[in-house]
Amino acid sequence: MLDQVAKILIDEKKLMNRVQELGKQISEDYEGKDLVVICILKGAIMFTADLVKAISLPLSIDFMAVSSYGSSTKSSGVVRILKDLDEEIEGRHVLIVEDIVDTGLTLDYLVKNLLSRKPASLKICCCLDKPERRKTPVKVDYVGFIIPDEFVIGYGLDYDEKYRNLPFIGVLSEEAYR
Ligand code: IMP
Ligand code: MG
Repeated sequence: MLDQVAKILIDEKKLMNRVQELGKQISEDYEGKDLVVICILKGAIMFTADLVKAISLPLSIDFMAVSSYGSSTKSSGVVRILKDLDEEIEGRHVLIVEDIVDTGLTLDYLVKNLLSRKPASLKICCCLDKPERRKTPVKVDYVGFIIPDEFVIGYGLDYDEKYRNLPFIGVLSEEAYR
């Protein structure tokens, strides 16, 4: 698997350090609040698992699965809910945890959808941000890393459902696309 990685963009140590910082910041911001962390499946699983461990507050974790990509590397712009939340979020403080904000279409849809359920507040925490590719503006409250316009894999992110288990963020080699 490693021979299909062209380069490592963010190594495990850098990821863990940044996650600790984000967790600390979120812990301060949500002190005394009823916090619901929403992990957007599947890409945000690794990031969410590490992030919640770095948040020193009582919180609940819920999951939502959406799909905006087929097996290609370009966004279709069509968002479908594959799995909805288990819990009600009305009156609660909601933090969406996403792997990456690319065109912004997925988060734009999610924000509108979740706001209609009347949470007390709604914020977004993304591991990665590719601002160059934005098609619709999205206000991301907590960003792990800003990255250039390259297709990345690992730490939850996939190419054709693979490479999610890599412990770092990498760029896929040309050969792996074939
Ligand atoms: P957006 O709707 O274009 O912002 O795309 C959001 C989703 O596309 C993310 O949650 C990812 O699942 C996927 N995605 C976007 N860029 C990448 C990438 O570089 N590698 C892997 N998945 C990506
Ligand atoms: Mg994906």
